[in-house]
Amino acid sequence: MRTISTIAELRAGLDGHRAAGRTVGFVPTMGYLHDGHASLMRAARAETDVVVASIFVNPLQFGAGEDLDAYPRDLARDTELAFRAGVDVLFTPTVGEMYPRPVLTTVSVAEVSERLEGATRPTHFAGVATVVAKLFAIVGPCRAYFGAKDYQQIAVVRRMVDDLSLPVVVVACPTRRERDGLAMSSRNVYLTPDERAAAPVVHTALRAGVAAITAGERDPAAVQALMAQIIEAEPLAQLDYAAVVDADSFTVPQPLAGNLRLLAAVRFGRARLIDNVGVTV
Ligand code: PAJ
Repeated sequence: MRTISTIAELRAGLDGHRAAGRTVGFVPTMGYLHDGHASLMRAARAETDVVVASIFVNPLQFGAGEDLDAYPRDLARDTELAFRAGVDVLFTPTVGEMYPRPVLTTVSVAEVSERLEGATRPTHFAGVATVVAKLFAIVGPCRAYFGAKDYQQIAVVRRMVDDLSLPVVVVACPTRRERDGLAMSSRNVYLTPDERAAAPVVHTALRAGVAAITAGERDPAAVQALMAQIIEAEPLAQLDYAAVVDADSFTVPQPLAGNLRLLAAVRFGRARLIDNVGVTV
């Protein structure tokens, strides 16, 4: 495995691989890697010839007062994990390499970026879309792997790729969880032992929402109230949102029908955790 930190060197290397007929798989990350990230790398390894993973904590997607400075970093451990997951090239640009000048050009995806996560974090998805567009421009034609854990992020990226005709195939991979159901996340490191013990309530609430729908509940407000009640019963949890939406449009079907996604965001101390599950009526 090679580690590359400049745009020019990465681009030249990948152009060479494509010219020789090899396909490129790409896994963008912000590092502090866990098995959720590794599962994307393994999927890319299985489906493409040259696997590139990036580690870049993107300042553009953090709002004022969010955890940019505290975001966990451990390049030595990440390098080992990426190597074991079959990554060929680890791209680790500095902020200066990615944004040498003030960023005047941004990408924003309307509508899907404005709901749920976007309602709480108004500049977040424009920051994600801008860096992902830039990374796609650097990496070039590829299959790009994203985790369903960040469900709305995949919708934003897919729409951007479609609207801008970017030469990228977006592949969604399932959420990896701890044994007690907690979705793996770099931010789980912020949890105190008590908060860690309480955190699986997010997945429990989402599963209860699915169970209610499966049992015949068709009123979105009732499903939302049920999930909120379960989360609010946990004293260490502070509910941000718990919602059920159409899996593609993010609108709320009334009555519930079709492909649905249940999503929640919950704060535990300084950690803000998100999770989601799907169900089809
Ligand atoms: P990050 O949070 O590091 O996540 C990188 C990728 O790993 C994302 O596609 C995310 O959905 C996926 N991932 C995280 N936890 C997962 C889990 N438990 N199971 C499966 N996949 C999981 O998402 C970002 O970084 C950034 O927004 C980025 C796309 C890199 C742009 O900066």
